[in-house]
Amino acid sequence: MDFNTQPTPAAGLAAVAADALLVVVVGNAMPSSLDKPLATLLSDAVAQGDFEFKANRCLYMHRPAGLQATRLAWVCAPNDSAKAFKSALAAGLAAVKALGVSTLAVARAGAETLTDTHAEALAAAVADAVYVYRHTKPSAPAAPKLSKAILVGGKKESASLARGLVRGAAIAAGVDLARECANRPANHATPSFLASEARRLGKQYGMKVEVLDRRQIEKLGMGSFLAVSQGSAEPPRFIVMRYDGAAKHKAPIVLVGKGITFDTGGISLKPAAEMDEMKFDMGGAASVLGTLRALGELRPKVNVVGLIPACENMPGGRAVKPGDVVRSLSGQTIEILNTDAEGRLILCDALTYAERFKPAAVVDIATLTGACVVALGHHHTGLFAADESLAADLLAASRHALDPAWRLPLDEEYDEALKSHFADMANVGPRPGGAITAAMFLKRFTAKYPWAHLDVAGTAWKSGAAKGATGRPVPLLTHFVLARAAA
Ligand code: BES
Ligand code: MN
Ligand code: ZN
Repeated sequence: MDFNTQPTPAAGLAAVAADALLVVVVGNAMPSSLDKPLATLLSDAVAQGDFEFKANRCLYMHRPAGLQATRLAWVCAPNDSAKAFKSALAAGLAAVKALGVSTLAVARAGAETLTDTHAEALAAAVADAVYVYRHTKPSAPAAPKLSKAILVGGKKESASLARGLVRGAAIAAGVDLARECANRPANHATPSFLASEARRLGKQYGMKVEVLDRRQIEKLGMGSFLAVSQGSAEPPRFIVMRYDGAAKHKAPIVLVGKGITFDTGGISLKPAAEMDEMKFDMGGAASVLGTLRALGELRPKVNVVGLIPACENMPGGRAVKPGDVVRSLSGQTIEILNTDAEGRLILCDALTYAERFKPAAVVDIATLTGACVVALGHHHTGLFAADESLAADLLAASRHALDPAWRLPLDEEYDEALKSHFADMANVGPRPGGAITAAMFLKRFTAKYPWAHLDVAGTAWKSGAAKGATGRPVPLLTHFVLARAAA
């Protein structure tokens, strides 16, 4: 996908050449800035009752007289925010993407300046509109022809718009990779597949990639991670990726992604309904791969390490049993009361492994708890952080990336829940506050560095008619790393 920006022609939007011109109308009335043929077309459509100034309303016009563009589409955004722009674009793109449109021009009417955030939102919306999963579905409809998007905006902000488009395109490439990895079924997207994707990224962008196999994981002493993997015939992998954009001595940011390629629950077996969606339980891992891809494109001056513990959680004759006690890499022992609380068991060893990098910050990303979905639904990612400035940075990144996150508490009082009679801790507490006790469990392994946890159980994929991975929180993570690089 090719993204570009150009100033509004002196002769007005009618002079924009493209296969389609999509005009985002901002506000709830006829925009005064619109010039002649377009203003007449729009006011006539409004008079006829064909268009209303309501959020995401669309109208399509084929070969309107007096325009260079072959097609014209209108879509309404209630205000001039990048968020409203993005959702209006999604609606507008839905109307034009199925047509024979290769080059799309996007303009705004009724608002003053465009920002780099609007430009980034355009790249995100376009990439989202053209993504089609086909790896195991060759009969899927062909991807839209759309291959070039031009943001038409004022002259003076063009440098910042161009920067926004570059950033947006890189993030979109990362989101695409995360979606593609997570959408693939678990018999394709195995731990070894994730490792080969990491290696491929490493080759493409010159990153160091190391993949540890079961023997090496045993030798390290990751007893908790191994306990989860032992019920599966699919061999586990521990993936270490390094993006070195800054001097060697600069402390890295470490991103840790939960890579459960399928979560049956293990001996604490999950119910059958919707269990297929547990192929998405490596969404955290996919977001680490996606973020590293975005960084490989953008090359910020910062060091980043990606860690992915990857395995299946299966029942079977060798599977870990409720009540089994394992020794984590940290030396702390864990009583596994519920084998379905496996995410924290693989993450805790990865979090201990992260210590060796003397990190500036560690952020783990995990489809960790159903309780987080109950708390926040499918809009906000759950953010947990023991470190105030890290929490603030992640929330700021979330806002700039239009990738919503909401902070949940980590008070010591919640730690009670993890008491065990037979080990240093249990892997589950009672149901109330389940997303928080999961985070409290992870916190016990993070004393040596500033740490935050993103629970993406509700946001990494969509269920129902639009079933599929979202690629979240790649935008949030990329913005976070870019801001740290600029600081
Ligand atoms: N991968 C699941 C969390 C999950 C469930 C994400 C549903 C999205 C939708 C995780 O491994 C899990 O099973 N968590 C348990 C924890 C419980 C046993 C304490 C859960 O949330 O039910
Ligand atoms: Mn589980
Ligand atoms: Zn899981």
